[in-house]
Amino acid sequence: MAPIGKNKARAGEERFAVPRHVAIIMDGNSRWAKKRGLPRTAGHSAGAEAFRKITKYCRDLGMEYLTVYAFSTENWKRSADEVSAIMGLLEKYLYEAIEDMEKEHTRLFLMGDLSRLSPGLQELSKRALKTAETVKGLQVNVCFNYGGRDEILRAAERYEKDYAAGRAGEIEEAGFSQYLYSAGIPDPDLIIRPSGEIRTSNFLLWQSAYSEYYFTDTLWPDFDEKELDKALIAYNKRSRRFGGV
Ligand code: FPP
Repeated sequence: MAPIGKNKARAGEERFAVPRHVAIIMDGNSRWAKKRGLPRTAGHSAGAEAFRKITKYCRDLGMEYLTVYAFSTENWKRSADEVSAIMGLLEKYLYEAIEDMEKEHTRLFLMGDLSRLSPGLQELSKRALKTAETVKGLQVNVCFNYGGRDEILRAAERYEKDYAAGRAGEIEEAGFSQYLYSAGIPDPDLIIRPSGEIRTSNFLLWQSAYSEYYFTDTLWPDFDEKELDKALIAYNKRSRRFGGV
């Protein structure tokens, strides 16, 4: 049986346990838009709506951590218009988060290299992170300008400096993981990738060592509560051995 959080949920006749930490690669926005003859940016707006809906559902299920991949270190290669539309969605989300975190019982955490964001977005991110400090509830980790390899390299750089200064001991897994963006956050139990792509795309490379994966053809903007139920039910049927027997 898969390790689980303390909460249970029901979908029709099926009862399932809710994992502590679910991570999602929010993929398929552009294909969703193309199918409807809409611009790619409309797909991202629809994707942001799906993200809001799933966040509320995860909170209601009593999940502890939800991590989403919103913008990768490679996504800068997209057109200036598309990048700017995603930045606009981040800005809107940060304003909402500052306003609503307390009453929504969700706390925002950003994971990624935020130094490449505009000064306005960096300032807003700082305000959102400050607001989150006192909020309890579901922790939503938004990976933005995030890359798994980049994260590990940055951690190695910081570790090396601390080691040279005598602030860090010999390298070992638990100690090193405290240099990652995800320091203090348990590894994801389940990673979901919608849209039919079956690859990890540089997402949580270190943290996913023993995560279960769930793939579905549903495009992210169509991913709803029922889709999440299906993923969680599938997860409940997995047997996790973490390399043991
Ligand atoms: C991948 O779809 C999605 C992205 C690159 C952006 C994801 C962004 C959001 C869901 C909304 C933003 C939310 C916040 C909080 C900023 P794709 O364009 O690669 O789609 P495709 O696989 O169909 O080409």
